[in-house]
Amino acid sequence: MPLHHLNALTIGVPDTKAVRGYYEDFGLVGEDDGWLSTGDGGKQLRLVPAPRRQLLHMEIGVDDPDDLGRIAGRLRRIGIAEPHVSDDSVTAVEPVTGVRVTAKVTRRLVQHPAPQAAYNQPGLTGRTEARAPGILREGRVRPRKLGHVVIGSVDQAAAQRFFVDGFGLKVSDEVRGAAAFMRCSSDHHNVLVQQAPVNFLHHTAWQVDDVDEIGRGAMAMLEGHPERHAWGLGRHFIGSNFFWYLRDPAGTFSEYYSDLDCIAEDALWSPRVWEADKALYSWGPPPPPSFVDPEDLAAHMTGAHSATG
Ligand SMILES: [Fe+2]
Repeated sequence: MPLHHLNALTIGVPDTKAVRGYYEDFGLVGEDDGWLSTGDGGKQLRLVPAPRRQLLHMEIGVDDPDDLGRIAGRLRRIGIAEPHVSDDSVTAVEPVTGVRVTAKVTRRLVQHPAPQAAYNQPGLTGRTEARAPGILREGRVRPRKLGHVVIGSVDQAAAQRFFVDGFGLKVSDEVRGAAAFMRCSSDHHNVLVQQAPVNFLHHTAWQVDDVDEIGRGAMAMLEGHPERHAWGLGRHFIGSNFFWYLRDPAGTFSEYYSDLDCIAEDALWSPRVWEADKALYSWGPPPPPSFVDPEDLAAHMTGAHSATG
């Protein structure tokens, strides 16, 4: 696959200072130039002023300048208005949601494994005479990389065409008539578009080492800020990842995740179309209604937005 990872997002919010502080608490590192960085992925999130919270731009890494012309050709064939091609990138606007998407020649993301957390299971003792590493960790949780972004679209099928037939993402799984889980790497999903009554940004997801880091990260976020809790701890069905979702001050969810399904060989994975009742999770507390339909969607629809989002 010439695409290799979801490199960066630009998100518009009414109050960049408050949202930036939230993502620094979340474990991203605020850089002098305004970007927020992960441990492995570098500068992966940029916040810019906007009247309402929205995904403005997404950058996907590709291997080779030769890939750019091929992507531009595919975009033209599906009727996308003139993609902009430069020496090292191609950019096009998803026509329904207005999200700008750039495929840019970048180095592949290299991740080095964290020290293996050994687990004890019935009949398989992975750790003896030692306490679980997860209880001994003290530093703050630092997400390793940006994993995926989830948007709602009033025309999910059109967005799926744009990403799959245009940019060349692969479909890993679908929810019938409702959503497509798409990948531009070996991660089960990097971009998820779901059918929605209005175009909006649902969440971003950030990889941490393991389920202990999800718990430690979420509990630290909730200290003094119980209002940040959205949904977790649980394990998704599609993608298999452990998750815990928190809500940023603009109303967008941010997810700590670990143990996502990995598709290293496209030919060995069978995408499936799942029914909606399977789609959301395998176990965990029931999702609050405001997770499925965020509280500001009505305002998104009418175009009414408070000064603070
Ligand atoms: Fe997610």
